[in-house]
Amino acid sequence: MKEIFNNSINIKNLNEEIEIYGWVSKVRNLGGLIFVDLRDRSGIIQLVINPENKYYDVASSLKNEYVVKACGKVCKRDNVNSSIATGEVEVAITYLEILSKSLEIPFQITDNTSALEDTRLKYRYLDIRRNEIKDKLIVRSKITMAIREFLDSKDFIEVETPVLCKSTPEGARDYLVPSRVNKGKFYALPQSPQLFKQLLMVGGIERYFQIAKCFRDEDLRADRQPEFTQVDLEMSFVEENDVMTMAENLIAHVFKKVKNIDIKLPLLRMKYDDAINYYGSDKPDMRFEMKIYDITNILEHTDFTVFKSVIEDNGIINAIVVKNASDKYSRKDLDKLTDYVKTYKASGLAYLKYNEEVTGSIVKVLSEKEINDIKEALNIENNDLVLIISGKKDIVKTALGALRCKIAKDLDLISKSDYKLLWVTDFPSFEWSDEENRFMACHHPFTAPKDEDVDKLLTDKAHCYSKAYDIVINGYEAGGGSIRIHNDEIQQKMFEALELTEEQIEEKFGWFNQALKYGTPPHGGLAFGLDRLTMLLTNTENIRDVIAFPKTASASDLMCECPNDVDEKQLKELGIEIRKENK
Ligand code: AMO
Repeated sequence: MKEIFNNSINIKNLNEEIEIYGWVSKVRNLGGLIFVDLRDRSGIIQLVINPENKYYDVASSLKNEYVVKACGKVCKRDNVNSSIATGEVEVAITYLEILSKSLEIPFQITDNTSALEDTRLKYRYLDIRRNEIKDKLIVRSKITMAIREFLDSKDFIEVETPVLCKSTPEGARDYLVPSRVNKGKFYALPQSPQLFKQLLMVGGIERYFQIAKCFRDEDLRADRQPEFTQVDLEMSFVEENDVMTMAENLIAHVFKKVKNIDIKLPLLRMKYDDAINYYGSDKPDMRFEMKIYDITNILEHTDFTVFKSVIEDNGIINAIVVKNASDKYSRKDLDKLTDYVKTYKASGLAYLKYNEEVTGSIVKVLSEKEINDIKEALNIENNDLVLIISGKKDIVKTALGALRCKIAKDLDLISKSDYKLLWVTDFPSFEWSDEENRFMACHHPFTAPKDEDVDKLLTDKAHCYSKAYDIVINGYEAGGGSIRIHNDEIQQKMFEALELTEEQIEEKFGWFNQALKYGTPPHGGLAFGLDRLTMLLTNTENIRDVIAFPKTASASDLMCECPNDVDEKQLKELGIEIRKENK
């Protein structure tokens, strides 16, 4: 068995005889002496062999990525290499054996590779040899270890729940699995273990957690995968504050253990409405300020026709201030920002540059008083740039929310090593769906409404708020959860509010409703996205970097080449026929 990792070898081991294993990273022949960089999981160590050595021919035949066993004596190096941990020593070979050869590799195993991501994904096992990927997998492992350690110390029990189950309503499309035994019927892969964890509470487990695989067939983004992992937890006899406190202590433990970073607790808590109003997002990035201001009142009596008609249509006029930056934005730059906000459906972007003289796209159409009132209300200083969007509330907020993030990135206002965590609380219970022409559950139908809003469930859905919370880190939704409905009557009312018929309720949730009638403790929980947490702790914006074998943006695995065709025989057994036009 391999006993020694390369990086553990140093000057203290001088003159020791050692046995090491690894991959050939580089071979150099310098005037007869052969130097080999041997790489293992921990790092690189240099081997050296001279022409008199009986293993010299073996060394001469080494190529990159061959796997070798080497024995030898630890010696001091003539030229210290301070860029590697083992740089003071080398191993003078006394035995060398090739354990396996390698084909020529499609890209070099180095940091900062220029290889295309598709190539790296096709040969993911080679990609994993690179520190950039391997180190992230190591951090991921440390995170899960720290999570287990913390939750175990708080009396949580790790329980596995099924992967073949009935569709759970989390809002995305299900991955379906056909049943051979029950032809024509399907299982769904879980979008999350939501209902099972609630049933574990009915089952008296009281504190549950699971590192759970979840599957969602949704449009993929840089922070989404069709198959991802949640740190899922649920607790009985709790209220919102209890779950949030437990979860933030867990996160603080993980940051301390994995990055030695102290997170100041309790975390900031911000109501959903405030997050939208001030930051244009339910996952505000708080590493920089750049708040959104409502200047509708200031322009209430404006003569400027665009703003006037927005106000008449019950729209809003909002602004952000980019401090000390009016000289950094040319007309062309501002045109580009206008194009950018248009991708968020904003009709345009107006601007004012406050210098000794005020200039900008709307300076001629506003009155002097309006320009001065804006200056005063927004605490404008010399060289500040004010960017203004008017229109329907949700478009204005979303566009300015996205714009503040873009500008912060462009102007380099965000420090990479900074972490800003907060809770966003008091989400609305419902959101209006234009597609479905009805109110839908904002989280899931088992999320408890605020006590004071229970009576509004059927009469004033637009103003019902829920006991739901998300944990946001650096602008990412790192986790979310809620207190659940444990009262059968309120659950029925919620289903009614969602306009589900008796039959639909019975068909979809009958089994679950039945369970709630057998003594359900008050309970609530939350799930962290483990992949996103790892992204944040490894400073990557690409979720694929933190998953050993990820899928591409079109949900395929380039290495295994799946999804793929299956045998006619397999289809027949399942009673499935593929229509010609889909082939
Ligand atoms: P939710 O749907 O908010 O809640 O998911 C919880 C967390 O999982 C992560 N996440 C994802 N990560 C990668 N790829 C995806 N496609 C993806 N979708 C979600 C996010 C998110 O915050 N059952 C509830 C939790 C609860 O109420 O306890 C749930 O699944 O980080």
